[in-house]
Amino acid sequence: MTQYNIKFIGLDRLFSNHRSEYLDAVEKVLGTGTVIGGPHIDEFEKSLAEITNRKYAVSVTSCTDALFFILTSCGIGKGDEVITTSYSFIATASAVLRTGATPVFADVDGHYHLTLDQVRQAKTDRTKAVLAVNLLGDCIDFTAFEEYCNKEKLLLIEDAAQSFGAKYRGVPSGKLGLASALSFSPMKTVPCFGTAGAIVTDDKDIAGTCSSLRRHGKVNESPSSVILGYNSVLPSDKAAQLNVSLKHMYQWQERRALIADRYITGLNGVGDIVTPGTRDGAVHCWHKFMLRTSRRDELQKFLLHSGIQTQVHYKIPLPSEPIFGQKRPDFFTNAIEYSKTCLSLPIYAELKDQEVDYIIQQIRDFF
Ligand SMILES: Cc1ncc(COP(=O)(O)O)c(C=O)c1O
Repeated sequence: MTQYNIKFIGLDRLFSNHRSEYLDAVEKVLGTGTVIGGPHIDEFEKSLAEITNRKYAVSVTSCTDALFFILTSCGIGKGDEVITTSYSFIATASAVLRTGATPVFADVDGHYHLTLDQVRQAKTDRTKAVLAVNLLGDCIDFTAFEEYCNKEKLLLIEDAAQSFGAKYRGVPSGKLGLASALSFSPMKTVPCFGTAGAIVTDDKDIAGTCSSLRRHGKVNESPSSVILGYNSVLPSDKAAQLNVSLKHMYQWQERRALIADRYITGLNGVGDIVTPGTRDGAVHCWHKFMLRTSRRDELQKFLLHSGIQTQVHYKIPLPSEPIFGQKRPDFFTNAIEYSKTCLSLPIYAELKDQEVDYIIQQIRDFF
């Protein structure tokens, strides 16, 4: 029996390393009785705006809501088409469906991202927006996408759930296009113990509408609901936890980058493994470390037996999800191939070098 038990997510280790910081932060909130709104929320939103170089940040309870609120506040709805990736978490495209609009999928490149060529092919007269995802913590070419969307008069929206802390040519993820959606769920680079999300934007109207949508459509202190709204107000204790996480985010990111380097070097030339590439000009935040191999399922079982948890992102390409009712899900060839070959390895700051080396060795032994 192996002595190792390496979890895919290291939230328990994160908590034990920063126990008193998190508990003190939460106690401060609970002790005041102000569990909605208040200074912790203000501090959190201010930090997000600063980090992403945006004018406004609106906290909400999830990135899933953040995406829906952005699309809604841009006026996207029934009859509109939104071009998005065929390879992402379900929330990227379900947010489009939730507005009544139609997600139009485009295949991805070797970095798991939308390409402009694919976007051009997917564009129709009804296309209103491009919803780009900076998957895994790597960034698309911001400049090319912005130029294209400006030229074609399409709205550009960023799903930055996985890329908070990443940069493209010095521009932070969170700054791409009209508005960006952020996630702070337990698996993310800056996690809280629960779920949380945010909208960041330079557009005052989008920020104002998102702010109303999260609070039953109310504007400031007005008692009336002016638009159909929802309940997506972030509890203050989550903001307090996230203010702690934000203090450590760059240090954690540096550690994940070292782990990624170690994996890339250690797995070079092993079996048919393809390790993730990085793009010129991009600072990867290493939200996930995803490799590809034709022996994915066997390898995952072998690693589990060796005490190593891994995950598959994503087993079902978005066009194959029944809710989207695509007529030709087989059309998205890269997304389909990746859904059969991708495997995510543990990558978090608390992972020890010895454990990373053990994971590499086990993969070598398997092949
Ligand atoms: C690319 C992407 N978009 C959206 C989401 C939804 O984020 P949340 O869990 O905060 O709703 C996720 C969550 O994993 C994600 O990976």
